Amino acid sequence: AEDSLGSLKKQLAKLFEVSLRVTVPTETDVEPLVAACTGNFGDYQCNNAMSLWPRIKGKGTEFRGPPAVGQALLRNIPPSEMIESCSVAGPGFVNVKLSNSWIAKSIQKMLNHGIGEWAPKLSVERAVVDFSSPNIAKEMHVGHLRSTIIGDSLARMLEFSKVEVLRRNHVGDWGTQFGMLIEHLFEKVPNWEDASETAIGDLQAFYKESKQRFDEEDGVFKERAQKAVVKLQGGDPKYRKAWAQICDISRREFDRVYQRLGVTLEERGESFYNPFIPGVLEKLSNLGLVEESQGARVIFLEGVNIPIIVVKSDGGYNYASTDMTALWYRLNEEKADWIIYVTDVGQSQHFEMVFKAAKRAGWLPADNNSYPRANHVGFGLVLGEDGKRFRTRSTEVVRLVDLLDEAKTRSKAALIERGKDKEFTEDELEKTAEAIGYGAVKYADLKNNRLTNYTFNFDQMLSDKGNTAVYLLYAHARICSIIRKSGKDIEELKKTAELSLDHPDERVLGLHLLQFAENVEDACTNLLPNVLCEYLYNLSENFTKFYSNCPVIGKPEEASRLLLCEATAIVMRQCFNLLGIVPVYKI
Ligand code: ARG
Repeated sequence: AEDSLGSLKKQLAKLFEVSLRVTVPTETDVEPLVAACTGNFGDYQCNNAMSLWPRIKGKGTEFRGPPAVGQALLRNIPPSEMIESCSVAGPGFVNVKLSNSWIAKSIQKMLNHGIGEWAPKLSVERAVVDFSSPNIAKEMHVGHLRSTIIGDSLARMLEFSKVEVLRRNHVGDWGTQFGMLIEHLFEKVPNWEDASETAIGDLQAFYKESKQRFDEEDGVFKERAQKAVVKLQGGDPKYRKAWAQICDISRREFDRVYQRLGVTLEERGESFYNPFIPGVLEKLSNLGLVEESQGARVIFLEGVNIPIIVVKSDGGYNYASTDMTALWYRLNEEKADWIIYVTDVGQSQHFEMVFKAAKRAGWLPADNNSYPRANHVGFGLVLGEDGKRFRTRSTEVVRLVDLLDEAKTRSKAALIERGKDKEFTEDELEKTAEAIGYGAVKYADLKNNRLTNYTFNFDQMLSDKGNTAVYLLYAHARICSIIRKSGKDIEELKKTAELSLDHPDERVLGLHLLQFAENVEDACTNLLPNVLCEYLYNLSENFTKFYSNCPVIGKPEEASRLLLCEATAIVMRQCFNLLGIVPVYKI
């Protein structure tokens, strides 16, 4: 099979690269600067002339200013069927107008070979995405929901771009909290070995109880809890068994959330890395990085006031010891070239310190854009309508399963109100309600720049107007229904009909379709799923404009326009897929 050419932007950049080498042979390190633009002059522009000028001016160049450099860049573009015309504007922008027939041909190629044709090409082979990562026995909260949704979407985009992704759930399963949990279990449930699950019931309440005893009772419980931690970490089988049972209860709760969201990930909790910690710390010590400070063992870092503590003063390991070890493992054992951590922005400093320490150790290159590479993908808070941290009632925490169930219940009620219970089978109604309900929750999260806080509002996210999943799912279903109503066999048309983009609104839509790859690439290289949401929303807007100005059924252009409808539906579905949203075909 033919090798994918990469995004439209990259294909144009390749042409300009050739032109640059011919135009300014001395400036071998200059990379083409190509960007999409909107305006009468072109679809894309190359902006190199302006920044090239000061570099070549002093070297006796034949050119007399940036516009002349632009003219030369234009002349030296190798002939290409992509380009309809070029012009130089203003201070030296080279504008490119793409050829209609080339756009149409590219879309037809995708129609015949599948959307994989438009997968971006990345220079990464294997990535770790560390996401979701709730803590055993503690609450799985909306922050973990955000991490799950954002992490899953990033993983999907990388997978689509043919990167091998290790989806890692870095569960907090190895803290000192297990001492009190286990001790409380032994005391409260004598037959815990066969009955822990039914006896514990609600693990979060159980956690609270034991925490209360730990904090408030005389020192006896506390002391026993501390001894239990030592036993557990020493590998005592009885304590290991109790630990494993407690983890299992939590795990089942987490899985109910993942199952609703359709998210798969592999559990690699903190406990997994524990046996590797001493060896990794020894490597760091041998490099001379570990120092003694106030009884603890620490690594000092440039530009940070406090050092990273890798061994606490009581000799125990902490969150950072585990993360240093996990990073080492992922780089050296798993040979990942990109490691991505999805947590709230509150952990930015922690990751900054871990990455800095890894750079000092020579595990990561000093330059942030070289590989192997590590990135923290931080996100803001989820707020309630009162503008405060999201909670259901004043004190109670939000149970994620309940939250997702409510989204589904509401979307089902809306479908029934519109009489869909009579039109759909029972199964269709359930599936549609799930797709809309869970899709709405995901999209409301992903459409914002992840760094901003966002307000959780069911009415807003489940509205069929505005930039919502519901609106977009409807738009897609409507396109499918246009194709169905035409009565034409679309698979047959793909083989026989020709796509042309004569009407201006057809061209705008066609070009937007072709820009899918560069938007996915942008979203995943910059770790910003909202870029893809914006692309999807604009796609739907462009389709609406096309459909209101270009009648389809029964017109001479019917076959061509049906192909354009089908291409739009395919790209929309792929966007949904990358956002973790299940498309529906009729609503
Ligand atoms: N368990 C942590 C929390 O709930 C998140 C873990 C993120 N991953 C990591 N490698 N530190 O805040």
